[in-house]
Amino acid sequence: MQTFFFVAFPYIALILAVGVGLYRYFARRFTYSSLSSELVEKKYLFWGSVSWHYGITLILLAHLLVALLPAPSRLVLGNHTRLVVLELTGIGLGLYCLFGIVALIARRLPNKSAARSVTSPMDWILLLALGYQAFSGVGIAMFERWGAAWYLNTAVPWLWSLAILHPNAATVTGLPFFIQTHFINGFLVILLFPFTRLVHVVSLPLEYLWRPYQVVIWNRDPRRKQLPCPCQASAVPASAPPPLEPTDEKRRRSLTRIGILVGGISAAIVGIPSLAFLLGLRKAPREWRPLGAVDSFPVGQTVEVSFADASPLPWAGVTAKTAAWLRRDGPAQFTAFSINCTHLGCPVRWLPTANLFMCPCHGGVFYKDGTVASGPPPKPLVTYPVRLNKGIVEILTSPVPITTV
Ligand code: FES
Repeated sequence: MQTFFFVAFPYIALILAVGVGLYRYFARRFTYSSLSSELVEKKYLFWGSVSWHYGITLILLAHLLVALLPAPSRLVLGNHTRLVVLELTGIGLGLYCLFGIVALIARRLPNKSAARSVTSPMDWILLLALGYQAFSGVGIAMFERWGAAWYLNTAVPWLWSLAILHPNAATVTGLPFFIQTHFINGFLVILLFPFTRLVHVVSLPLEYLWRPYQVVIWNRDPRRKQLPCPCQASAVPASAPPPLEPTDEKRRRSLTRIGILVGGISAAIVGIPSLAFLLGLRKAPREWRPLGAVDSFPVGQTVEVSFADASPLPWAGVTAKTAAWLRRDGPAQFTAFSINCTHLGCPVRWLPTANLFMCPCHGGVFYKDGTVASGPPPKPLVTYPVRLNKGIVEILTSPVPITTV
């Protein structure tokens, strides 16, 4: 089930978003709009829309920046004061967003509300999905603190593994259920993108954020016959649209074909490798990496070792490096523990005086053998296979730092 939600579902959502999105763009370009309901109600729309758009834009930007630039983000978040400031800013923005989406939902709720009469079932589904995303995001920020730090060690490796078509959900499948629903619902929103008014995000109406408000006025010529009010449009038979010119008809057919072709190619680019992975035709690479000469590790000591990830991206920089805790138990016996806590992935520290691993994020404590001593971690620290090869200690690594080996 988890393979479906964290491997197949993200690809299904992306394929539909790209494929159907392109088709709709080429075949029904005039529907790429948020279908503003400002004309029927604007007081609550103002409060909801402004709060939602400012809040969600900044939050998405922060999520994206950390995912795209993990190394600089790690440096920024490594300082406690900065981490606290960013966490508080995130919670503030999350609450701002939540207020916005609640206002947007509330204005459509009353039976007699004009906004409700122009709300389609897909609008309701989208509003509920966005509402849940804002609600769960605020809940996570408030009850699973230091999210900015553990997001780097859990969601970011998973998202990168999806991006390079070597999906590995090991870093997220062990997270609390509430956090998992936030990720899954995020991809549900992506899936809904081409079927709803959400398509307006790609038209990037950035100037909406600072432009002065619009004044919309009726421009009626009193000498002409009174036009029906748009809100009664359904009660008045609309006059038939003028027939399309043959050239218009041809252009529309061509655009539809282009849409289907581009959408199909995009879907194939993402879909075929993903299907191959799901059918087991593509395996995540596992590599033995050298850690150092056997004699450089004193017996009985636990030290931090760093090594290159199994499939570093050309532009990965220092993020291609990962780390582990290595203990020499005997002359030829070594144990390597993942550095990531099994709760939310924060890096654990070894305290030699206490013989314990400590997680600074939520106080998780592990015994010397990696089993849980106390705190929220649900399972022991993950261990890596280790071998000796011509006097060199080697570790078996996989594309992401946390594995289930
Ligand atoms: S990440 Fe929460 S206790 Fe380690």
